[in-house]
Amino acid sequence: MGEAILKRIEGPIIVSKETRDLEMNEEVRIGEEGLVGEVIRITGDEAMIQVYEDTTGLKPGIKIFGMNKPLSVELGPGLISNTFDGIQRPLTVIKEKQGIFIKRGFQVPSLSRDKKWEVDIKVKKGDAVSSNSIIGEVEETSLVKHRILVPPGITGKVIELGKASSYKIEDTICVVEGKEGKKIGIKLFHSWPVRKKRPFLERLSPQEIMFTGQRVIDTVFPIAKGGVAAIPGGFGTGKTVTQHSLAKWADADIIIYIGCGERGNEMAQVLEEFPKLKDPRSGKTIMERTILIANTSNMPVTARESSIYTGITIAEYFRDMGYDVALMADSTSRWAEAMREISGRMEEMPAEKGFPAYLSSRLAEFYERGGRVKVEKDRVGSVSIVGAVSPPGGDFTEPVTSHTKRFIGTFWALDRELANSRHYPAISWTESYSGYLDRVSVWWESKGLSIMGLRKKLMEVLLEDSHLREIVRLVGEGALPEMERLTLRKAELIKEGFLQQNALSQVDAYCFPEKQYRMLKMIFEFGEGAEGLLGMGVPLFKIEELPVFSEIKRMGEEIGNEDLDKFDELSSKIEKEFDGLRKEYG
Ligand SMILES: Nc1ncnc2c1ncn2[C@@H]1O[C@H](COP(=O)(O)OP(=O)(O)O)[C@@H](O)[C@H]1O
Ligand SMILES: [Mg+2]
Repeated sequence: MGEAILKRIEGPIIVSKETRDLEMNEEVRIGEEGLVGEVIRITGDEAMIQVYEDTTGLKPGIKIFGMNKPLSVELGPGLISNTFDGIQRPLTVIKEKQGIFIKRGFQVPSLSRDKKWEVDIKVKKGDAVSSNSIIGEVEETSLVKHRILVPPGITGKVIELGKASSYKIEDTICVVEGKEGKKIGIKLFHSWPVRKKRPFLERLSPQEIMFTGQRVIDTVFPIAKGGVAAIPGGFGTGKTVTQHSLAKWADADIIIYIGCGERGNEMAQVLEEFPKLKDPRSGKTIMERTILIANTSNMPVTARESSIYTGITIAEYFRDMGYDVALMADSTSRWAEAMREISGRMEEMPAEKGFPAYLSSRLAEFYERGGRVKVEKDRVGSVSIVGAVSPPGGDFTEPVTSHTKRFIGTFWALDRELANSRHYPAISWTESYSGYLDRVSVWWESKGLSIMGLRKKLMEVLLEDSHLREIVRLVGEGALPEMERLTLRKAELIKEGFLQQNALSQVDAYCFPEKQYRMLKMIFEFGEGAEGLLGMGVPLFKIEELPVFSEIKRMGEEIGNEDLDKFDELSSKIEKEFDGLRKEYG
């Protein structure tokens, strides 16, 4: 077993001397308290170790012990509904045992050793099994069947099966005879190194939409299951609110939410609010499919990095069971800043804005762990990633945003001006894009909702609107012909009536596909009818004065997902009010 002696402390990093048998990326324990660290450089008999806990009070001379394994996470029943810190310590258990602040070196297993799980064994004696074969199933929550997988790398034949009806996670549920007669016990859990991506058979391209109930996302800039997205925005533009909405409503089997380096009270709000929310598909509390990872700003910076890796590794594990997993990381910039700090301490040559040269490859490695994959012959799973980016001053040319852009398929650019005018979500329609449009349009069509044609019109109106607004700024709206002024009104309906969506609204926080379609259709029904009226000589101000004009702006709030019939009423109302004008001017 590797060992070393603490030589000096440099903030979150320590340097050891008399280092023997420690390996790169090996997990270590420091001193009697057993603080958790990871070897990040070895030169001669010195090692640099990043410590995932507060290093104050450590003294030179303290002993460091190698754990003989890379930094790893435990994968097995007990993950769902749990809240972990960056190195997968269960915060709820810790809180019960010793209050809200984790004492340094506090050691408690990630997954409960005492809890018993009923296992439905899925294999027989003599079955050939290999990496990721399903040995059994545990009903972890009413929403998640946890499939017990053969850990990657093991191949063999089942020679013994457990007979108990329930097991603790360290119990052996089956024995596999591997190469050269080697017997391997399969338990309910296994460990996996966080920096190593889990293997699969084949990468597939994302196909289906990951529906989120957010109109500007689903209709305008959608993300696919297995897609990767970034949401950059300056302070207060709505990154966290949007990430929360996605965690609450995204149509995924498993949600992993990483609070990385952001305020603790936001995480507290999640802990308070999520258990009370119901999944719109199942009616169950969303915590039954959610895992939270909290590394808030008051926790050690080094653990920001591990929180990202811990999260993505757990995500891959559920993907391997055949699930669609969605991971949100708020914010990847805090992770990048931690990288910068550690790199500075290591005296590495800085690249752009002081970030290390490997910033880009680390981001690439992270986003590449997203995707839709074939795990086994008949099993497909996906990991969708949504990374928040917090560019200083909202400047999207800074390194984290610009590198991230190269690795993602959907870009939701948050716009300061929109946020200032309280247009939420402040997702810019000029700077955002989605690379999954073609594929998700098939999904909309399959629901009988031809929304992509309407989307095209929406983008045309918004584009024309921004040209016209340039002119209006110079010469005022009065200088425009009525038909062009109508375009401004249509854009107003699109922005206020469709794109804006209050995340805190009881009625509108989550919008069904059909409601999205009918809202957009209503706007164009009004717009096209109004064009006809202008053609007949009806002045625009008469149309603007119609009560339905403002009613359309409020339809998101006023028409619930369950009473879509009200759209028919609104439609008749448009017809009636238009008729009135036709009579007056006909
Ligand atoms: N979709 C939304 N609906 C309603 N309010 C929103 C929405 N998005 C953002 N906000 C408002 O903006 C504020 C700041 O958002 P937040 O997500 O905390 O910003 P960031 O994480 O980018 O700093 C929120 O407290 C909320 O008042
Ligand atoms: Mg935030």
